Amino acid sequence: MNFITQILVLLAIPVLNASLAMLLAYRGHTLTVAEAAQEVYDDAYRGTALLLGDVVEADDTYTGEHCKDVVHLALDVARELKLDGEQQRTLEFGALLHDIGKIAVPKEIVNKPGKLDPQEWEIIKTHTVEGQRMLERVGGFMGNVGQIVRSHHERWDGHGYPDGLAGAEIPFAARIISCCDAFNAMTTDRPSTGTL
Ligand SMILES: [Fe+2]
Repeated sequence: MNFITQILVLLAIPVLNASLAMLLAYRGHTLTVAEAAQEVYDDAYRGTALLLGDVVEADDTYTGEHCKDVVHLALDVARELKLDGEQQRTLEFGALLHDIGKIAVPKEIVNKPGKLDPQEWEIIKTHTVEGQRMLERVGGFMGNVGQIVRSHHERWDGHGYPDGLAGAEIPFAARIISCCDAFNAMTTDRPSTGTL
């Protein structure tokens, strides 16, 4: 079984698990069909998001651990801001998958010790649009998460990338993830610069 086939099989597992849970709940008359269907929808996307998070970690241990740290920080912020359940879920998945596009960037650039040259810098910046493209292919709710992933390196002053968005043009969840991402990167050892 090649790598892509293994990934597809793994992606199917949460959907199958959720479908089985729906059937058992419906048969037990604890849920209506609509409620059971909604649970399948939520569980399938949650399972897919968690699995994609594991794929990021398998591809690069530092990036995977960093993404999980950013999830904890972002959810702390969400609780402080009293965001509702839907906003928290979007934020959680956005934080977990914000760097998934780095899978498409050569490892010698992602893990290069020291500074990147201008050409390497342009390549690593593509992880934002690559991440969005991957999540849009999953579709549904993950497409919304993709927009946040695309915008997590925008800056309030408009000097970020990939779109140069400024201020409130930047999706709210992307602003929170950007702050948590920067805080975690500055306070942990990382391949390119080390900790502050
Ligand atoms: Fe990033």
